Amino acid sequence: MAFPNSSFQIGSIVVQPPLIMAPLHEITDQPFRRMIREVGGVGLTVSEMISSEALVRHARKAERMMASEGERPYAMQLAGSDPEHLAECAVMCETAGADMVDLNMGCPASNVTKGGAGSALLRDIRLAERCVTAMVKAVKIPVTVKMRAGWDASQAERETYRDFLKMFQHVGVQGLAIHPRTRAQQYEGHADWSLIARAVDAGMSFPIIGNGDVVEAADAQRMVQETGCQGVMIGRGALYNPFLFRQIMEPGLVVTAEMRIDITLRFFRLLLELLEEREALHKIKKIGAWFTKGIAGGAKFRQRLNERNDPHELIREIEALRDF
Ligand SMILES: Cc1cc2nc3c(=O)[nH]c(=O)nc-3n(C[C@H](O)[C@H](O)[C@H](O)COP(=O)(O)O)c2cc1C
Repeated sequence: MAFPNSSFQIGSIVVQPPLIMAPLHEITDQPFRRMIREVGGVGLTVSEMISSEALVRHARKAERMMASEGERPYAMQLAGSDPEHLAECAVMCETAGADMVDLNMGCPASNVTKGGAGSALLRDIRLAERCVTAMVKAVKIPVTVKMRAGWDASQAERETYRDFLKMFQHVGVQGLAIHPRTRAQQYEGHADWSLIARAVDAGMSFPIIGNGDVVEAADAQRMVQETGCQGVMIGRGALYNPFLFRQIMEPGLVVTAEMRIDITLRFFRLLLELLEEREALHKIKKIGAWFTKGIAGGAKFRQRLNERNDPHELIREIEALRDF
């Protein structure tokens, strides 16, 4: 079947539709993932990155990040650079019910890279190999990787990622998501999709998932046509428009203001149900600003966001937007 009615497998796990909600730190927590699943069109969700160093210390916040309920299939993503700790944490993810465990080789944030994790692993293929090997050996569930194009332009030009692909295949990685920007680029410029195409052409034993700059339904189609990737991963596009996955599956689906208000309310209620009230308020303020874009009265709501300290009051204000 042609995209988007196709599917692909990560080990024995079927991803259908072949659309993946990207991990977004401090955003794709359990309430967000549950909301995006309820909207529909998503074949796989991923936790926000969980620090293996925090997890081995049993830090409460890190342990809570593993929580999921009824999300199938669901991947947990680890960030770290200590092979033993990563192996230990992969087992914790497996025990907690993850269908697969992913290693972050893309995060550009200096607090992550200074410890050798995230995109810093792209500068040290031997350490990267030890990290994924330790994880693969520790668990029965599939181990996947999410990587950037390289540390900087010179690495991208030398196509260092090709060595990584071979190494991943050799050690038994079962899926790879590529965000084709370098670490030095951060989020500037464009994702170079030709690199995704070259990774597909390399004919690896595992599926290649394309990621970067899919903001409209047509972009997902174009990414698959131009690159041949088996799956499409979407981050920021789904934040601005939580209906994006459904629009890919149902071309022509028009998102009304009513639908946006309903999903915003549902999301805020999930935040209150699943998080402590203070944390829920923080997320309503942060994510509410994106969610209400394009809704009549949304700009006024956003202006008031920071003045409010009662999440229930904010919910009433969103409800009032129906009258605009
Ligand atoms: C706010 C934010 C948080 C992110 N957190 C993570 C993360 O925890 N793990 C990860 O692998 N990538 C993370 N990313 C990168 C995204 O998963 C994705 O690769 C990137 O945004 C490009 O895709 P997009 O253009 O669809 O957003 C993050 C990106 C943003 C903007």
